[in-house]
This record gives sequence, C-alpha cells and structure tokens, in this order.
Amino acid sequence: MSPSLPRYRSADWDEPVVLELGRPGRRGIYAPQVEDDVAADVDALLPPGVRRTTPPALPELSEFEVQRHYNHLSQMTLGMMGINLFGTCTMKYNPRVNERVVARPELAEVHPQQDPSTLQGILEIVHAFEGILQELSGMDRFVFQPGGGADAAYTHACITRAYHASRGELARRTEVITTIQTHPCSPATAAAAGFDVVTLPLGPDGYPTLESLKAAVSDRTAALMVGNPDDMGVYNPEMKEWVRIVHEAGGLCFYDHANFNGVMSRIRARELGFDACMYMLHKTFAGPKGGGGPAVGAYGCQPELVPFLPRPLVDLHDGVYGLDEGDERSIGRVREYWGNVPVVVKAYSWVRALGAEGIRQAADLSVIANNYMETRLLQIRGVSKSHPHLTQHRLEMTRYSLEQVHADTGIDVHDIQNRMVDFGVDAPWLAHEPWLIPEPITPEAGETWSKEDIDTWIDVLAEVVREAYEDPETVRTAPHNHAIAQVQAGGVDDPERWATTWRAHVRKRASA
Ligand SMILES: Cc1ncc(COP(=O)(O)O)c(C=O)c1O
Repeated sequence: MSPSLPRYRSADWDEPVVLELGRPGRRGIYAPQVEDDVAADVDALLPPGVRRTTPPALPELSEFEVQRHYNHLSQMTLGMMGINLFGTCTMKYNPRVNERVVARPELAEVHPQQDPSTLQGILEIVHAFEGILQELSGMDRFVFQPGGGADAAYTHACITRAYHASRGELARRTEVITTIQTHPCSPATAAAAGFDVVTLPLGPDGYPTLESLKAAVSDRTAALMVGNPDDMGVYNPEMKEWVRIVHEAGGLCFYDHANFNGVMSRIRARELGFDACMYMLHKTFAGPKGGGGPAVGAYGCQPELVPFLPRPLVDLHDGVYGLDEGDERSIGRVREYWGNVPVVVKAYSWVRALGAEGIRQAADLSVIANNYMETRLLQIRGVSKSHPHLTQHRLEMTRYSLEQVHADTGIDVHDIQNRMVDFGVDAPWLAHEPWLIPEPITPEAGETWSKEDIDTWIDVLAEVVREAYEDPETVRTAPHNHAIAQVQAGGVDDPERWATTWRAHVRKRASA
C-alpha cells in the first residue's frame, strides 16, 4: 500500500440500541416547575380516549450517556464522514457558521403561527433570498415549501395539472415528456400526478435527438420535465429549441436544476425559455441534506403559473412583510407553513457570504475540479467515461464506467464501493436507475474539496482497482476496516425478519 494513502480503522463498539440503555429514574434534564400563571389542567384539555393510562416505555438516561451513545454510533458509520465526492447532485460541505446563524433566538424561537408583524426579520430573509433566486433564474416567484428536489418536481406536476385544468385542456393533455437520463423523480412525480410518461432515449450526442422530441410532442403534451446538464455531465445545447417546440404545442417546461452547481450565474432558466425550475437548497446552496428531512426544493415559476403556487408567499407592501395566501387557484400546501425556513436561512447565509462573484467562482471551480479529476481518473487502468467519443469538456461531473475492470477481474462497482470505505473515504455514488452505462460511478468534487483531498480520493480508487487486478479476494470480501462488514440483504426481503420499530423488533426476536 502506498504510504500516502490514509490508514483507517473504525471503532467497533458493542453498542446496544438506545432503548436497551439507561435505568428507570435516570434523567438528563430536569424541567423547572410550571409557573402558576401558565399552569393548566392538562388532563381536562385532552379527551379521555387519547389520555395515556401507562407512561411511555422510553429509555431513561443521563445527558452523558446519550452523548456517548451517539458518539459511538457516529464512529461506526459507513459514510458521509470522509472525503465525499458524491455525484449526480452536488453534496457540499455545510458551513458550521450557518448553524450558529439559525440558532439565534430571533430565528430559532419563533413560530410560523405568530402574527406576521412579529416575524418581520425572518420574513425579510425569506423575501431577500427569493430575490437572489429570481436573479439567478429569471423566474418571477419562488416557494420554499417542497421538502426536497423530488417534492419540487411533484409540485410542478400538480401545477401542470391545475394550469391545464384552468384552461379546460386537462382531459386532452395527458402526457409528460422526459428523457431517459433525467432524474427518476420527474417521471415518477408526473405519474403520481396522473400523467402518462413519455421517455426519450439517448441519441448519438449523449442526449435525445430533436427528431425524437418532435415525434413525441403533440396536443396531448402537458409538460416537458428535464434536467440539463444530465447526471452523466452531458449538456444538451439544443435545450432552447426543445422548449420552443414544447411551447408551440401548448405544453409547460420544467427545468430540474439539481445540477446547477457548474453553471451557477452562467445559465438562467428564463433565458432558455422555461416556465418553471427547481433548485436544491440542501445541495447546491450548502444546506444539510439529511436524507430528505431538512431539505428544501426551491420551486420558481413565470408569472402565468404564480396563481397555482402553494401558499403562502412572502410579500412586501409599504415596507411591511406579509403572507399572501392566494386564492382557490393555488394547488394547496405541499408541506406545512412556509417550508423548512432554517434551511432557507442557511442558503441565504451561504450566498451572502460568497456574493455574486463568489458564486460564479464556485461554479467555475467545480468545473475545473471535475475536469482535473477526469484527467486523472481516466489514467487508471480499466476506467473509461460514458460517451468517450464526446470530446467537449463535461461540466461539474462526469460518469465513469468500470466495465473493463469488471470484465477483467469479476470485481463490480459494489465491491469497489465496499473496499474504498476501508481507506476512510466515502464510497462513490453509482448512478440512478436505469443504468445507461455498465458498472457506473459518478464522483463529483464541487468547489468544496481541496486538490489534496481530491488527489487522495483518486489515489484510493486507483489502489482499489490495482487490488482488483492483483488481489481480487480482498476487494470482494471488503470492508475489512469497519465495524460493519458486508450487509447480508436477504432479511430485507423477509417480512418475518425485518422490523421498522423497536416493538416489532422485540416481538420478532422473541418469536424467532
Ligand atoms: C438531478 C436530480 N434531480 C432531483 C433529485 C431529487 O432530489 P431530492 O433527493 O432532494 O428529492 C436528485 C437527487 O438525487 C437529482 O440528482
């Protein structure tokens, strides 16, 4: 092993689940006695049918025990802790300072049901951030309610339905057109909203041909839902013409801008003619990803779609911020209140820290980092890229294929993922389904990682590929340096064995 590669071994605690820890009566926090003037007879407030008769069986632990437990678990995690070049939608570092900003009591201790006159500061931030996205996209209004990128795509599918219904055309406009390399959330949400999905295959240039689009578009077309560049890193330069063709047929055009990072401040959805677009604040704008929990898919649209937006929107009249609840044309809420406002504040903090110049620089850096990475990765034995005949530079990501490594050694991309984590770096993301090229991996550096970190990650991949050729058994049986060995996924298919709650686990363990 090269001396420059990281040496790593994870901690391996014999850690019970939290429900098995603690002792009755142990406490982490003692709540103060309720003051007389706010005390209430809680029992009288609750109907007898919903009152508990026995206390909940919760673990009782001291603060330190809780902290130690979660520290132990974090030391055994398999990912998101090392150098993390996770592609197809930029996963970037979440600056700590933003956590301090949102923890300020003016932001953390307010509630959206307060009177807006007492929420002027936070409304100002939401309004100002909307202004920044308007500038970046050219769209007229933005809403932050969708709880992620897929939720913003769903918002668009519902708005498409409402828009065509308002024109008496919904019965006829039953089809949403997408492309095989657009993220699966576009076809999935179009189908969930009741549309038939027409998926265009790739042409020789790495994106569907104009002819295939023309053949698919008709007076049944309700919308086009696409991403560009796609998550293979290929940019479709004919997109303006695509939008024109779909508009001519009366359809709406939605831009999944999840791959905005490499084109920030260089491409505006409006200039390409789109009616709506989506940005991911939990990815491109440095908010935490958190598995879809604290996410925000910012959905923006042109004036003709604004009446259909989920409400409320934040407005400014005569120097006072207020909430515009819209009218019956709104599709209704897709999430509670104004969405996950702390993530909006973090995104605002991030763009204000960078400024207009900084955002452009971040986009450029992410493209340079990707192309640096591409040059080095393609020198590794058995590594090729998708559509190798396309010579123009990819933007912020490139999809690679380890097909040759697999053919030569029998080692597949899952084995490679499992072995890479042995070096303390995060495994690469492969590709969304369907895989368009065999044995794919999609690393993306963004602007976050230093050249040294990128080099380390590439060195690890090169080492694992070398092992695949020279010592495949080590790769096939990885990970070796983790508390968690290969997951035997068999139990996941067996409803008698899997348990999604503690109670189900205890019941199934007892009967096993
Ligand atoms: C291009 C693209 N669009 C949409 C999504 C969906 O985003 P989210 O995970 O926030 O729902 C992703 C996430 O992988 C993506 O890569």
